[in-house]
Amino acid sequence: MKKVMVVFGTRPEAIKMCPLIKELEKNKDLNTVVCVTGQHKEMLTQVMDVFQLHTDYNLNIMRPQQTLSEIAISILAELEEVVRKEMPDLILVHGDTSTSFIAALTGFYLGIPIGHVEAGLRTYDTQSPYPEEFNRQAVDLITELYFAPTETAKNNLLREGKKAEKIYVTGNTVIDALKTTVQPDYENEHIEWAKGSRLLLLTAHRRENLGEKMRGMFKAVKRIVKEFADVKVIYPVHKNPDVQKVAKEVFTGTERIRMIDPLDVIDFHNFMSRSYLILTDSGGIQEEAPSLGKPVLVMRDSTERPEGVSAGVLKIVGTCEENIYLQCKKLLMNQREYQAMKRMANPYGDGYASKRITEAVLQYFSNV
Ligand code: UD1
Ligand code: UDP
Repeated sequence: MKKVMVVFGTRPEAIKMCPLIKELEKNKDLNTVVCVTGQHKEMLTQVMDVFQLHTDYNLNIMRPQQTLSEIAISILAELEEVVRKEMPDLILVHGDTSTSFIAALTGFYLGIPIGHVEAGLRTYDTQSPYPEEFNRQAVDLITELYFAPTETAKNNLLREGKKAEKIYVTGNTVIDALKTTVQPDYENEHIEWAKGSRLLLLTAHRRENLGEKMRGMFKAVKRIVKEFADVKVIYPVHKNPDVQKVAKEVFTGTERIRMIDPLDVIDFHNFMSRSYLILTDSGGIQEEAPSLGKPVLVMRDSTERPEGVSAGVLKIVGTCEENIYLQCKKLLMNQREYQAMKRMANPYGDGYASKRITEAVLQYFSNV
């Protein structure tokens, strides 16, 4: 029996790997071992609880105010022993986090093939998103099986000289997750509070935006709320203390802005589906919103997810206060603009990505 080790450590990786683990575990020919690094703590536990998944190993590496080097060193130091003990036939990593990069590196050092879920996303700017663009390119240098979510991602890989026979276009597993979470009869006290208003859902956490850029984003949102009496904002604040500090400084005491704890993924998807507009610097949210037909103003200078921009649902508005404010105001005032963005599209998948990845893994094992 072949053994697959799945390694992840942050909220978005967990949301995107859990549907795949469930699919892998259905298969009697595979022994699936789950190892979390614990790069995130509470935000990871939330996801594991929702999907009711057990972990075989938790490296518990999270420390307050962890630096990139500290994360890398801790995982490198802890993961090797686990991998040596299990000696899997394949290690699956996801996306572009420090966990993904170091887990892939560990596998590479031990001569174990790597499967990269969500391979091929690119901005080709290592400063944006930082350090994720480096991480994902580095992982793809040592990947044996590329699971590209879209044709665009596949073409990036081909342009870089990766072999076509190693690339599988699968869709993004986040859409698999999304299919199970949104409920028509969902109720929640915060959604109740926002009823009758236009709900802006806000998230922000990118490392390159911490500090003044993030303060500018929040000030833009505050100006919008002061100007539009029918707008309410719900902001599930990331656990990063640097984010929390700026959020509290700018928003505390502002009427019609609610800062709440991170939501579990079922709540968050349902909040998305009931929002009027989403403002975010998140990656995953850019993939989910088109499937829900929700316009997103992306508070970044570039995106590795151009499919949603082409579909018309995402608009890149940069990180400068004035532009975020102006673009948001335009959408709130101009119904034609808003309706043009409010369209349903599924550029990131059909909900069967996990099945395709599992089939590709089985096919790979039947050939080696
Ligand atoms: C990480 C990923 C980023 C991803 C994001 C998802 C890297 C380099 N970055 O960024 O790609 O978009 O996760 O959210 O891998 N913290 C807690 N509890 C938690 C989670 C975080 O207290 O459950 C705090 C920790 O003190 C930590 C800080 O938040 O120091 C930042 O977490 P970290 O994983 O270092 O970076 P993120 O910004 O979350
Ligand atoms: N999300 C969540 N609760 C929240 C905010 C976001 O479950 O309070 C989900 C969201 O639906 C998406 C993922 O977390 O699937 C995105 O994670 P994040 O923005 O932290 O990371 P990124 O996608 O930018 O790497």
